[in-house]
Amino acid sequence: MSTSGVEAFTHRFIPPPTAGALTLLLLHGTGGDENDLLQVGRALDDQAALLSPRGKVSEQGANRWFRRLAEGVFDTDDLLARTDQLATFITDAVEHYRLDASRLVAVGFSNGANIAATLLFRHPHLLRGAVLFAPMVTLDDPPRADLSGVGVFLAAGRADRIAPAEQAERLAEQFIECGASVELRWHPGGHRIDPHILAQAAAWLGKLRAFSGESV
Ligand code: MLT
Repeated sequence: MSTSGVEAFTHRFIPPPTAGALTLLLLHGTGGDENDLLQVGRALDDQAALLSPRGKVSEQGANRWFRRLAEGVFDTDDLLARTDQLATFITDAVEHYRLDASRLVAVGFSNGANIAATLLFRHPHLLRGAVLFAPMVTLDDPPRADLSGVGVFLAAGRADRIAPAEQAERLAEQFIECGASVELRWHPGGHRIDPHILAQAAAWLGKLRAFSGESV
């Protein structure tokens, strides 16, 4: 079986009902798969195309996007290599599914948010924006990417013990230093996608969509 091009990642693709829509790149958390965030994607934008790959790293059977040495301690070499692999897949998928490359928005939860954040720093021209649920800092000193014109919505839980509050704050600062337009929202809970924050993220995405020229 070929492992190049769009076949490089097991994935689901749901085409948009109308032309000119955003494409949401859905990146699941540890132990998830390509089906996990489809409902979240729909809740965020019912007109978007959904591109939902599965992480290729197995941690005792749990799918992930990159290896870690311990909880919250990342294998940086693997993270960088896997980020580049995912970037290649995205470029191939844009061509294969004839997507508008200027309207790609990553939506990641936890480990998926972490690779999305790394994608933004390493491949700053690939994404129009990102919605990051329960993200962490993955690179202490990320490349000084030019993220002007890129929108990032971060959602963090005050009681999140896996991704503590200061992680989201530091990550937001890293994005701001690169010129991104950043919105950081809090909920009182733990490591999860909070339904109220999901609604706020949908409203934020609506503004990003209007700003990227789609008729709404
Ligand atoms: C990670 O490994 O990316 C974070 O610790 C979150 C997780 O997947 O548990």
